Amino acid sequence: MAKYEPHDTFYRKARERGLPSRAAFKIEELLARFKLVRAGARVVDLGCAPGGWLSVLAAAVGPRGRVAGVDLAACPAIAANVVTLVGDIRVPASVAAVAAALGAPADLVTSDLAPRLSGVAERDQARMLVLARAALECARALLRPDGAMVVKLFMGGDCGEAVEAFARDFAQVERTRTRASRPGSSELYMVARGFRAAARGGRPVG
Ligand SMILES: C[S@@+](CC[C@H](N)C(=O)[O-])C[C@H]1O[C@@H](n2cnc3c(N)ncnc32)[C@H](O)[C@@H]1O
Repeated sequence: MAKYEPHDTFYRKARERGLPSRAAFKIEELLARFKLVRAGARVVDLGCAPGGWLSVLAAAVGPRGRVAGVDLAACPAIAANVVTLVGDIRVPASVAAVAAALGAPADLVTSDLAPRLSGVAERDQARMLVLARAALECARALLRPDGAMVVKLFMGGDCGEAVEAFARDFAQVERTRTRASRPGSSELYMVARGFRAAARGGRPVG
């Protein structure tokens, strides 16, 4: 089994750059590898607290872009082009509030949503899948046609079913790991591109 090392390279790099955690390096790597955003883009970050992904996304979209983050926990809006909301992404009113805050359909929806971990792998995996499906529902309301999505999952169990659900709404779906994930972690990321216009739901968009 991989050794748990709390003060590894990514932990130290996060401290050096004033980032709240190593999580920021995961989205930084995915944005670079998959070229998911341009300057001026609009992004929704689901499960944004404490703000690591927000800081990377805010820098990637630049001053003409906008990032709207939502979380059950309060999270500071760390830059002028960022707005944060407290809310449960499973509640339609929260999704509508995010759409209003963004002001237009999103080019990218990111989800680093995670349940409070119980330590029981199967239970945590099942809860993660519920959140991934909720994130997909949000994307149906928030994404522009041909937009992209990044979603965290845990390996195993019904992971394949989640990938199939995303594959119905996106032209291209890939599963990948990031170097910044903790050694031995079961976390993986799904990168979905080419959001199908027909998948857009009836909830308010921008
Ligand atoms: C791993 S953390 C996100 C870390 C973040 N990406 C960062 O870089 O700082 C997962 C977050 O998902 C949030 N979350 C879990 N369920 C949620 C829900 N139903 N609605 C909104 N946020 C939720 C948690 O409150 C937690 O802050």
